[in-house]
Amino acid sequence: MPEVIEDYLNKIFCGDALEILKRLPDEIVDVGVTSPPYNKGENKKGWLVPNIKYSGASDKLPEAEYQRRQIGVLNEIYRITKPGGSFFYNHKLRWERGKLLHPMDWLRKTKWIIKQEIIWDRMIAGNIRGWRFWQVDERIYWLYKPKGKNIIGEELKPKHALLTSIWRILPEKNNPHPAPFPLALPLRCIYSVMDGKKKGLVLDPYCGSGTTLVAAKILGYDFIGIDISPEYCGFAEERLKDYKKEIIDAEEEIRKHIVVKTFKERKLKGEFVGRYAPMNKIKEKMQDKPKNKRSEIRPTILKIFE
Ligand SMILES: C[S@@+](CC[C@H](N)C(=O)[O-])C[C@H]1O[C@@H](n2cnc3c(N)ncnc32)[C@H](O)[C@@H]1O
Repeated sequence: MPEVIEDYLNKIFCGDALEILKRLPDEIVDVGVTSPPYNKGENKKGWLVPNIKYSGASDKLPEAEYQRRQIGVLNEIYRITKPGGSFFYNHKLRWERGKLLHPMDWLRKTKWIIKQEIIWDRMIAGNIRGWRFWQVDERIYWLYKPKGKNIIGEELKPKHALLTSIWRILPEKNNPHPAPFPLALPLRCIYSVMDGKKKGLVLDPYCGSGTTLVAAKILGYDFIGIDISPEYCGFAEERLKDYKKEIIDAEEEIRKHIVVKTFKERKLKGEFVGRYAPMNKIKEKMQDKPKNKRSEIRPTILKIFE
């Protein structure tokens, strides 16, 4: 491993995530995004598509061992993250012999503060069986490392806070990796917490095809990637050389971070109406046109979001 911090930057380390993380210095990372292997048992089959198989590692561990390793990895990431830093951890709900395995089962055992559970609505997913309603959601856990006694952290800028806790983003199609996430996903995570910061280091300890690293590079940040598969590491290196080709897709995501008026401005101008408005505003509206109260209030709500 390199001697000085600059020598770690903008590199992909090929090997086991836990082993490599252990060799990285304390408190160097500003934000991380990852999607680890989900331990889905690669030999199982859905009706329409087989389960994912990675080229460099098995995705089939005894569940207790898998969770123990994930806790180890997450705690190492905590150590190398700066106080005030964030980590976005993409996972999903799984079932083993009918019993729900929830990411919270092991996340609560790590050192991280769980700041938010975000639903990633993929709108489509493979492996379809009829035991339950079609599972098209995954989760993204926003994990936070407190700075001093502040366990809540900084507020998001208004333009990011208008995005909701449900992220409707289609899965990636044009990528030879068996389980990539779309560029918009790490881009949204990094851009939302790093906006305004000129320098910073982004980590993805299971970087696969390098999607997080491309997002970091487009936004002008340094990165460190780790993956156990030499094939995927090579692919990510090649992809990074051509990162400019992906700027158009990145811009599409960035355009979604917009707010015409902040919550504060609306409140000051008394533009809060509808169900979430102060009671006096709702009563005023209802007194104006009692018969048409629904049709009156609804267009006004829509106007706010225009
Ligand atoms: C869900 S994929 C990540 C895909 C990535 N987000 C992308 O957009 O391409 C999980 C990755 O973890 C890697 N992996 C599996 N076991 C690993 C380990 N022990 N250490 C590091 N990487 C590992 C696999 O090779 C795979 O690329």
